[in-house]
Amino acid sequence: MVRTKLLCTLSGGPYNRRVPDNAEPIDASTRYCAVYGHPISHSASPAMQNAALVHLGLNWRYLAFDVDPSHLREAIIGAARMKFIGLNLTVPHKLLAQEIVDVLDQSAKTWGAVNTIRFEGRTADGQWVSLGALENCDSQEIRSHGFNTDAEAITRSLVEDLSIRLPGARVLLLGAGGAGRVAALKLASEQISELYLINRTRSKAEALAAEISKRFPQVKTTVGYPTDKADLLLNATSLGLNANDDLPFDPNRYHLSSARAVYDMVYRPAETALLKTARQAGCRTANGAGMLLYQGARALEIWTGHAAPIEIMRRALLNHIYGD
Ligand code: ATR
Repeated sequence: MVRTKLLCTLSGGPYNRRVPDNAEPIDASTRYCAVYGHPISHSASPAMQNAALVHLGLNWRYLAFDVDPSHLREAIIGAARMKFIGLNLTVPHKLLAQEIVDVLDQSAKTWGAVNTIRFEGRTADGQWVSLGALENCDSQEIRSHGFNTDAEAITRSLVEDLSIRLPGARVLLLGAGGAGRVAALKLASEQISELYLINRTRSKAEALAAEISKRFPQVKTTVGYPTDKADLLLNATSLGLNANDDLPFDPNRYHLSSARAVYDMVYRPAETALLKTARQAGCRTANGAGMLLYQGARALEIWTGHAAPIEIMRRALLNHIYGD
């Protein structure tokens, strides 16, 4: 036990000094938000969110916790009890949280995943109000309200970073895991015309194709590569995170000259092998930093009720991930 404690201390957490320079000192009125994940040590969300909180003049802090999935329920209840303003959830918590939160927003119901929780207190007149908006949060009744801000962030980033026009687009999506599923459903809802799905485990691509065909029958969905030019190739697999990863598609069966634009949800490194190959093939390219930015900006708006300072958040995020 003592040994574990010593290792934790030496591993760097308590010595993290990247607090924004002009943050108000922590005192008894400081309020908290956090991201839970497993693992969590590479999360860029604290840097992005704390910069925004300072800019908004809020005496709040945004923390990051490694929470084992078997403890997710306790960790959410604990945050509510401590009157946290809200939480973000990342891998592997987004599906499980649907069963844990007290109320699901339509966004979480539609996309089948929760990445943002807002804690709400009940006022004297029976209204549920964000704890971030309550002057004194002595409400005994607090509920957790689950949202999904990932889906909107995907399309916002595609439109803003790649200038893609989604209605009528032909899309090749690589990956049918959690991120791939939300991307496929959101793209289908944006009235793309054709969706091609590739996944290492083919049965998952087939199950996703069946779900899309049922919910969005107007979208022509195929498991396999397109034969004609695609407007967008979107990588939603984790391939690219490591320098020696293979490309996320089979180069014997597909060539990037057949894609107009390529988006890689992986954002570290800034230019993955996929993006480099795509740039060399003449495609427009963007990485997933925009997605991370926009899901976080929307979460902040859900907690504060105010517009997020996008450029402040973007700068803090890029600075944290890539350095100056
Ligand atoms: P996330 O929530 O980030 O999407 P996930 O649900 O675990 O995480 O999905 C990871 C995706 O990357 C899946 O599409 C996975 O393919 P499988 O469904 O076959 O597991 C894909 N992936 C991970 N490692 C891979 C590898 N070495 N080769 C090909 N695809 C891989």
